[in-house]
Amino acid sequence: MPEIEIRGTTLHYQERGRGTALLLLHGFPLDLRMWRQQLDDLSSNHRVIAMDLRGFGRSRSTESFTIDSLADDVAAFIEQLSLRACVVGGLSMGGYVLQSLALRRPELLRGMILIDTRAEGDDATGKANRQKMIDLVRLQGPKPIADQMLPKLLAEGAAEPRPQLVTEVRAMAEACPARTIEHALIALRDRADRIADLPSISLPTLILVGELDAITPPAQAQNMHRAINGSKLIVIPNAGHMAPLEQPEPVNAAIRELIQKI
Ligand code: MLT
Repeated sequence: MPEIEIRGTTLHYQERGRGTALLLLHGFPLDLRMWRQQLDDLSSNHRVIAMDLRGFGRSRSTESFTIDSLADDVAAFIEQLSLRACVVGGLSMGGYVLQSLALRRPELLRGMILIDTRAEGDDATGKANRQKMIDLVRLQGPKPIADQMLPKLLAEGAAEPRPQLVTEVRAMAEACPARTIEHALIALRDRADRIADLPSISLPTLILVGELDAITPPAQAQNMHRAINGSKLIVIPNAGHMAPLEQPEPVNAAIRELIQKI
């Protein structure tokens, strides 16, 4: 797997195909393997790149980070790989990173795809839940975090016919180092609320959400859609929080359509 030195750490990525560059940012506590169906399918006419964010997957790092510092990593990654003006897609935490990037470095992007994500920050209950998870991972490591998150990541109906999805997502979550989970939970808890900033974005924007997404439900996707002028919102039937894995066909078709238009 190729790797690149970025801002004092080594980031790993996978790349396939040629054409317009599409960079994909994974969610928490996952890694670039969640994009396998986009790497396989969309690479027939695009250059698809999926990266492991700092601390995740093979991009091992014990340093703490914030959503904005992860966005700075992504900006440096785009510049170093000369992907300037690429389309970037981010799922959930990857979508928070993407919003930070789009607001601070819009010149690096040609379009953005916000998938199963939201612009609102954590409320008091959300922050308290993050703290409980931080305490849990410090005491017991990644397994109970995976146990807690799994039922919320995949929609029951969508995962049932494909039990390998459950195995796949569990394997990613359990492989995430405890230190990274702790750093990510702090970054997620302390992230900015972006709702008021979104109207300043003028990039072509596609918003995708699983109709059964239990973590970032369609109502939150609607809020981003209302705030980003000219954005397109598509609700993916029979998908939860992992729409690109659960329902790759409609997700990939929507991504292709966005890229063709820009
Ligand atoms: C994710 O999927 O990246 C996380 O669930 C996001 C979050 O917990 O806010």
